[in-house]
Amino acid sequence: MKQLIKKLVEATGPSGYEDNIRNMIVDEIKTVADDFKIDALGNLIVRKGQKSADGMRIMLAAHMDEIGIIVTHIDENGFLRFAGIGGVFPFHCIGSRVEFLNGQVGVIYQEDLGSREKVAPLQKMYIDIGASSKEECSVKIGDVAVFQRPFTDLGNRLVSKAMDDRIGVAIEIEVLKQLKDSPHEIYFVFTTQEEVGTRGATTAAFGIDPDLGIAIDIAPTGDVPKDRRSALKLAAGPGIKVKDTGMISDPRVVRSLVNTAEAANIPYQMEILLMGSTDARAIQIAKSGVPVSCLSIPTRYAHSPSEMVDYNDVQNTVKLLTAYLCKPINLSL
Ligand code: CO
Ligand code: ZN
Repeated sequence: MKQLIKKLVEATGPSGYEDNIRNMIVDEIKTVADDFKIDALGNLIVRKGQKSADGMRIMLAAHMDEIGIIVTHIDENGFLRFAGIGGVFPFHCIGSRVEFLNGQVGVIYQEDLGSREKVAPLQKMYIDIGASSKEECSVKIGDVAVFQRPFTDLGNRLVSKAMDDRIGVAIEIEVLKQLKDSPHEIYFVFTTQEEVGTRGATTAAFGIDPDLGIAIDIAPTGDVPKDRRSALKLAAGPGIKVKDTGMISDPRVVRSLVNTAEAANIPYQMEILLMGSTDARAIQIAKSGVPVSCLSIPTRYAHSPSEMVDYNDVQNTVKLLTAYLCKPINLSL
């Protein structure tokens, strides 16, 4: 799966501009899907299977978009001011490089604050694209960019920008390829605009009207020096989400995922996220409501240009989801 992961994480796709990454995913799924379509918000909705007597209509969601920046102002000397698209933190920005959709690369730095110890807010940062005047800029107000950082394979640990949530995208593709027989009608959805408020999943869930929903997304670990905000650890298995700030998972779905993991001997962890939410929230409150949970890939340094995941967790998430989807799901156990 590493080749697929490298390809997906290095693609450029800030929220609202998912065309590149979506085309890449279409290439991967077109021969294994029963059918697929792209809706008005740009979600890629891929169906596999028909609902049988003991099956459900299930929506899976992994978001294609990634955090990025948008140009808000260009000064006489060709320096760009910008705002974040999604959760962009100033301390990840200084010295980082961004890549615009036209391939133009720029360096982010901050105004002189009189101290090297201080990190400026985004409004006091700028992007230098090597232009010396406004006229020379190949980039215009309203243009968008993503952080630029190549995929690095550290063996068990994989590092890149946009693991959030291309790792979820890779997992969905892999499950779609591996799943042979299933009683369910499964919609593998690759959503847009998650990082700005789960907007793609909102319309996709309305259209699909599923009986059950599972998002696949990253969640931050607490297994780094002096960090106890999360009990999640790398290499201890996929997280099964209990709660985040936007959603409480349906306990029946949580239990059915735990039962599947235990029956198949797949390691897992209970996951509680103290800041943020996922596409599962949008599915849960779609139409008249849907039972949902989320499988969380434990991730260090979330929303930085160097997000780190463990390859075993990735493979175990594929195993868990495949085992879950290949037989009837009993929510009353
Ligand atoms: Co995110
Ligand atoms: Zn995410």
